Amino acid sequence: MSKDDYFVHESAYVDEPCSIGKGTRIWHFSHVSKGAKIGANCNIGQNVFIGGDVIIGSNVKIQNNVSIYSGIVIEDDVFLGPSCVLTNVTNPRSQIVRHSLYEKTVFHRGATVGANATIVCGIELGRYCFVAAGAVVTKDVNDYAMIVGVPGRQAGWMSRHGIPLGDPDKNGIMVCPESGYRYKEVEAGVVRCLDLHEEEPLPADKAMGTRRYDEYKKQ
Ligand SMILES: CC(C)(COP(=O)(O)OP(=O)(O)OC[C@H]1O[C@@H](n2cnc3c(N)ncnc32)[C@H](O)[C@@H]1OP(=O)(O)O)[C@@H](O)C(=O)NCCC(=O)NCCS
Repeated sequence: MSKDDYFVHESAYVDEPCSIGKGTRIWHFSHVSKGAKIGANCNIGQNVFIGGDVIIGSNVKIQNNVSIYSGIVIEDDVFLGPSCVLTNVTNPRSQIVRHSLYEKTVFHRGATVGANATIVCGIELGRYCFVAAGAVVTKDVNDYAMIVGVPGRQAGWMSRHGIPLGDPDKNGIMVCPESGYRYKEVEAGVVRCLDLHEEEPLPADKAMGTRRYDEYKKQ
């Protein structure tokens, strides 16, 4: 990808060789290490560090002050809130070198991590899961699960549009008030959207928010 195809602010450092997709923007004081792979149309905010060998998909939004260390994989459409903390060694000790022992953490498609949350390494965060601001996540997270608190516990299900899914009807259906999409827990701990497969892109007419979160809560 030519450097004309993506934007790097003059205060940022990008160590070559690395791969950056078309339309991606890298803002003030950020640092991309050698070997990192970043997809298209990502927004990488201010003071973000991206380690070597990190893989980041497309349309990923990384807010200010986030460090993404080696061993972390971020799929398409993930949102990392400001100052959230990701880790790559469970038992760090300054005297012990564990550079070849980084633990893998995977953020699956569409996952959101709230501001100031901490993700302990070696886990997988499911598609469209939602980690509340300040939560500490220590275990794998199911698709669409909302995780709140310290330690992080599942507090319900969150739609692809980021709206809590209320109680299911008699057929087990939960409807997202923003999109109208229907969701169902098809087996214990497994929620699926019945109207749009998790790997399908969101249609453009469903991708523009028109009402604030609190307006949906009042319904
Ligand atoms: C998780 C979240 C979506 C919940 O919002 P909400 O539906 O308005 O939640 P409510 O205010 O109705 O709270 C419901 C309960 O959960 C608690 N709660 C809400 N958010 C919480 C959080 N982040 N951590 C711990 N508890 C939380 C509330 O105190 C309340 O508890 P109570 O029932 O005992 O009174 C929201 O709090 C959040 O963390 N959003 C992420 C924001 C963010 O980081 N954005 C980054 C981009 S700027």
